[in-house]
Order: sequence, then C-alpha cells, then structure tokens
Amino acid sequence: MGTDRDDPHLLPGSMVGYYDIFVDWPGRLSREMPALASRLAALGAQRILDVGCGTGHHVRALTEAGFDTIGADPDPGMLDQAREVAGDRFVRWGLGSEPPPELADAPPFDAVICLGNVWPRFGGGEVARCAADLLGRLRSGGALIVGLKAFGVQIAEGRLHLPLLRREHEGRVFHFVRFLDATVPPEDDGFSRCDMHMVVAIGDGVDEAPVATHGTTRLRAWTPATLEACFTAAGFGEVRVSSSIGDPEAPPKTEDVFVHARRPA
Ligand SMILES: C[S@@+](CC[C@H](N)C(=O)[O-])C[C@H]1O[C@@H](n2cnc3c(N)ncnc32)[C@H](O)[C@@H]1O
Repeated sequence: MGTDRDDPHLLPGSMVGYYDIFVDWPGRLSREMPALASRLAALGAQRILDVGCGTGHHVRALTEAGFDTIGADPDPGMLDQAREVAGDRFVRWGLGSEPPPELADAPPFDAVICLGNVWPRFGGGEVARCAADLLGRLRSGGALIVGLKAFGVQIAEGRLHLPLLRREHEGRVFHFVRFLDATVPPEDDGFSRCDMHMVVAIGDGVDEAPVATHGTTRLRAWTPATLEACFTAAGFGEVRVSSSIGDPEAPPKTEDVFVHARRPA
C-alpha cells in the first residue's frame, strides 16, 4: 500500500475531499430530516443557522422543507462544496471566533443546529466560549440542537472501533476505518479526551492498487452528564440530552446523542 499525493482525495488530515463520499446523504437525511423538520416546526422556528454546516446538505434539505436557513463553517473548501449543493446561503465563520458582519448584524435565529460531531472538537476554555457563541446567535426562547458522539460512553464500555464503512464513488472503492486512542492524557481540568484516527483506503486492492491516507482529530470524550452540565453552565435552559434529533425527552441509548436546549426567554 502506498500513497499518491496527486490524488485529489488524498489530502492528509482533511475531510474536504471525502466528506460527501463518507456520508450516505440520502440515507442520513431520510433518517434525520422528518424528525428535525417536525421539531423545528413545532417550536415555531423559521430562521435557522447551521453551525459547522460542512458541505451544506442540511441547509439544502431544510431550505427545501420551507425553512429560511443559513450555514456557517470556517473551512473554505467545505463552503465551496456547500455552495454547489445549496447556493449562496453560507458564511465563513467558526465557533470561537468573531462572527463576520453578515452574521453579527443579522437578527438572532429561531434555532441553531450544530450536527455531525463538531462539538467534541472544542476543549479547555474554548468550550465555554463556543457555547456562548451558540447562545449569542439565538433569539430569546430560541432552540439549540447539537448532534454528537459522546465518546465518553463508548470508551467506558471499551468499544474503541467505529463501524467500518465501504463506499463506491465514481468507480472506485473507499474504505473508512475509524478508531479511538483513549490513552491521551486528560485536559488540565481532568476532562477526558481521545484521538479519533481515520484511515481512508482507496482502491479495492484487486483492480486498483490501494492507497491510503490518515488523519487524527483530538476530541473531548463527552458523556450525557457532562454535556448537560456544560450547556446549563453556559446559560441555556431546558437542557436535555436525548437519543433523538426530534424528541428532547427520548433517553440516550448509545454514544449518538443530541443536546436540546433553549435560550431562556
Ligand atoms: C464532520 S463535519 C460536520 C458537517 C455537518 N454539520 C454534518 O452534520 O455532517 C465537521 C465540520 O465542522 C467544521 N468546523 C471545524 N471547526 C469549527 C468551528 N470552530 N466552528 C464550527 N465548525 C467548525 C469543519 O470545517 C467541518 O465542516
């Protein structure tokens, strides 16, 4: 197995070239959208901000469902793809940085969503700042939905591997191998963290010689209890950690959780 630096998919440490191969968007949106759209409608939300929007598929689906939706992401490569997916509905911004004028001057949103494991990227003092950034984009009574993997649950159960994903794209075979290194020292305040390693192997090894790349992301190992404490301390009300994107009261079952919260009126 070798590496081929001319392959546009082999961008070390970046998901920009792979994200829309990695995610089965039709399957994911068919699982998430009915519950998300009915929850947002039940909340009376019309203006939605998708923070860490990646390649823009939730923005497109929510727009098609009738919501007035804007996506924000700090990665220009992700935003280029997002604009191809959903048009000119995106701003370059990441949690923990000053919002650009088009966000800072925009009216606050009815709902902010932050999906796809963006939240565990933040550690230490960044966490309070990023939670304040989410709160700051919401109107009074506005709703927050954060979707993530609470890796603290998975690590406590000794499950360090994520499911192997095999995808076919433009006649090529991609294998996504993900596993956690839980030996990373905790943060200064004792908060557990881990490294998530992803190896992307391209080529079936028979008709196409395989090449591979590897990226690592250091993540906080959240649990439902630490998530609830974090968002409560940040000033959110009605904080619930749930297994459902659409039902705050559904108890968490696995590491796949959604934080639901409101900005107090
Ligand atoms: C795994 S993707 C998730 C994309 C999409 N939300 C989803 O549900 O599939 C993580 C995204 O987080 C973005 N990101 C990285 N740092 C961020 C920050 N400080 N604030 C917001 N998003 C950030 C990355 O650029 C990337 O697009």
